[in-house]
Amino acid sequence: MRQWMAGRLGGFRDSVFEEMNALAEQYGVNLGSGTPDLETPAAVQAAAAEAVARGRNQYAPVRGEMVLREAIADHARRFYGQEVDPASEVTVTSGVTEGIYAALFSVVEPGDEVVVFEPFYDCYVPSIRMAGGIPVPVTLHAPAFRFDPRELRAAFSSRTKALLLNTPHNPTGTVFSRDELTLIAELCQEFDVLAIADEVYEHIVFEPAMHVRLATLPGMGERTLTLSGAGKTLSCTGWRIGWAIGPAALHDALARLRQFTVFSASTPLQWGVLSAAAAEAAIRGGSSNLSSSALTTATFRISAGRLRNARPSPAASRMGKTNTQNRWSGSRINSRILVRISCTSGRSLITQAAPRQRHEYVL
Ligand SMILES: Cc1ncc(COP(=O)(O)O)c(C=O)c1O
Repeated sequence: MRQWMAGRLGGFRDSVFEEMNALAEQYGVNLGSGTPDLETPAAVQAAAAEAVARGRNQYAPVRGEMVLREAIADHARRFYGQEVDPASEVTVTSGVTEGIYAALFSVVEPGDEVVVFEPFYDCYVPSIRMAGGIPVPVTLHAPAFRFDPRELRAAFSSRTKALLLNTPHNPTGTVFSRDELTLIAELCQEFDVLAIADEVYEHIVFEPAMHVRLATLPGMGERTLTLSGAGKTLSCTGWRIGWAIGPAALHDALARLRQFTVFSASTPLQWGVLSAAAAEAAIRGGSSNLSSSALTTATFRISAGRLRNARPSPAASRMGKTNTQNRWSGSRINSRILVRISCTSGRSLITQAAPRQRHEYVL
């Protein structure tokens, strides 16, 4: 019988997730899939259902719904001081995985080298190879899982087209420091290399580590494509909503490829993700229609290491501090009361609160 599978796929095994999910069915414990512990916020689920009911069921633009691109640009400004033009510098992707594939496929020519830190997230090397590129691994050495600067420099050459960075890093948990990123930035500029930065875990960082966006380092805005998404931050990995931020020319390249492949990400789920951004914006904006009495009678229990039994003080009004330094604020949107809770580790959560109910979270 003839082999139908194209040679370019022949060398790949099933992804680690396929393997682990199959074993999980057999043994009942899943040690593979990175499914978040928290539920997708109820308000975000409701917004996606509402988008379907309201008829947002047709193709979205190739680059994504403009309102969501605006929210993504706003997020980049607030968290990183990064100025982004939503019209030309943002693309909504079908998850970060698709963003990685599309980015590599759009820029890597056959024979180009791509520097990548190992151990790597499992789709990196297959995506580089499918694009015709040659992966050049740089090891993150145990026990601290940091790279050796000499090894990193040695990996760069005139053949290097791109560097694929993942910070915070899966699977080691390494959060690249500003000094490490500065060295990476210098090498990218010296060798005229594009950085593709997978920052899908940007909001899952524990003190004292701090996430630094590579694109915000001097000289990197024009040569970095930052990838992130809603899956991990909003606990909706199955929705497949990610995004890419970077120079306009790269988005033109992505659009050329994606118009003939995925075309666009799911329309109603883009609106679902947007609802989280809208909720956060309303909370930040002073929440004029906040029902403070409803919020203050609710109790929040938050577990985050030493932070326990966080409870908004009864006197707290619109924006308050819980008795353990967790900040919370609330807003009423479309008759739902939404609360944002941020703990000192930098992690935060937007959720729906009910009056006089007890809510428990692990942040
Ligand atoms: C480093 C890294 N990048 C990307 C992804 C996938 O993101 P998405 O589900 O948005 O495709 C994962 C998922 O575990 C990951 O660990």
